[in-house]
Amino acid sequence: MTLPTKCNYGHVFGRLSTNGNYEICCGSTPPSGNYHTDGKFIEYWKSAKLKNLLYDLKHDLSNMNETWADGNCDYCPHFYINEKISDGDIKIPKSPWIYNIDVINICDHRCNFCWNWSHEMISDNAQFDGWNDWIKERIDFKIFTDTIDGLVELGDCEEIQIGGGGEPLLHQDIQEMIKYVKDNNLSCKLITNFCQISEDSLDEMINIGLDYILVNVSAGTQENYCKTRRVKPNTWYKVINNINYIIKNRREKSPKIIMKNIINSENIHEVGEMIDLGVELGVDVVALRFFHEFGVYNSDKKIVTSKQHKKFNKTLNLKIEEYGYKKYYDDDNQFIYNYKSLNTNTLLRGDV
Ligand SMILES: C[S@@+](CC[C@H](N)C(=O)[O-])C[C@H]1O[C@@H](n2cnc3c(N)ncnc32)[C@H](O)[C@@H]1O
Ligand code: SF4
Repeated sequence: MTLPTKCNYGHVFGRLSTNGNYEICCGSTPPSGNYHTDGKFIEYWKSAKLKNLLYDLKHDLSNMNETWADGNCDYCPHFYINEKISDGDIKIPKSPWIYNIDVINICDHRCNFCWNWSHEMISDNAQFDGWNDWIKERIDFKIFTDTIDGLVELGDCEEIQIGGGGEPLLHQDIQEMIKYVKDNNLSCKLITNFCQISEDSLDEMINIGLDYILVNVSAGTQENYCKTRRVKPNTWYKVINNINYIIKNRREKSPKIIMKNIINSENIHEVGEMIDLGVELGVDVVALRFFHEFGVYNSDKKIVTSKQHKKFNKTLNLKIEEYGYKKYYDDDNQFIYNYKSLNTNTLLRGDV
């Protein structure tokens, strides 16, 4: 267990869910408030109820990890930010530093590693309790803007992540949401499968000044992409073409493209192809992250075996050599390793 002893719970990351629930850390924690009962974000953030909860959690981290966060602090991706705050390199923010807004729960893909839409879960009819109602939820634009307004007023939020339990591009107000974030001078990251979007909307994203698009690719070939997420063959070309379009038409390298790969037993053999693809497309980052089994249906089947892991390490090392990657320290990011190379502009990052 690598409990983040220096946790600044609540001040690093926060989340608003589609039903208006406020969470003060990653999704495995119970809601600590709700827009409809506790008011707009700023009222909730200033409430005595939240202050007391944050105090209790900070003063008994071990208990908090075991009982409140279901042990998920062990995998905390905000470790580096926490450390910087604790070391005094960043002052304790007046509001969450990074804020994630889940805007929609419906999805057009069925990624087998996904908590909510795994095709095995659906074909076995093993959805979690309340799933049928949950998938209908989407955030109201007013709740979205109220939350941004609160974060702006508090002053220290750096980045808004627009994601979801499903696919944010399926929300009717997605462009207006991105625009609202950018009009308020916050950095904006869209987390997406990046398939359902027209060229006009891609142009709009570039014009609005969207900063990052995290594209969940999680495959190195068309065949495995379509098989592991049960989508039609042309879906692969949609995502590849959209990435290409952004890279060719963006200005001053914005938005940056992070090609995210959630590594599991069904795609680990394609790590070489994933890196090659990212370099070929010219994405800014190829990110490799081992899948988080908690809450995933049939997760045992998706955990990588030690044999697969060994082969993965071997391929990774070969690619590191092939592209001339060298390890470097980037104090801004959450990944355990970072590589850059003089031969390619694509960074390689991971946690394995
Ligand atoms: C739930 S998806 C929603 C947004 C969008 N549909 C997408 O796929 O990016 C948000 C992110 O969760 C990540 N994800 C999904 N299942 C995961 C798992 N079991 N472990 C770790 N990350 C996962 C993927 O990286 C994905 O980008
Ligand atoms: S695209 Fe995103 S939300 Fe949809 S199934 Fe895949 S990981 Fe889950």
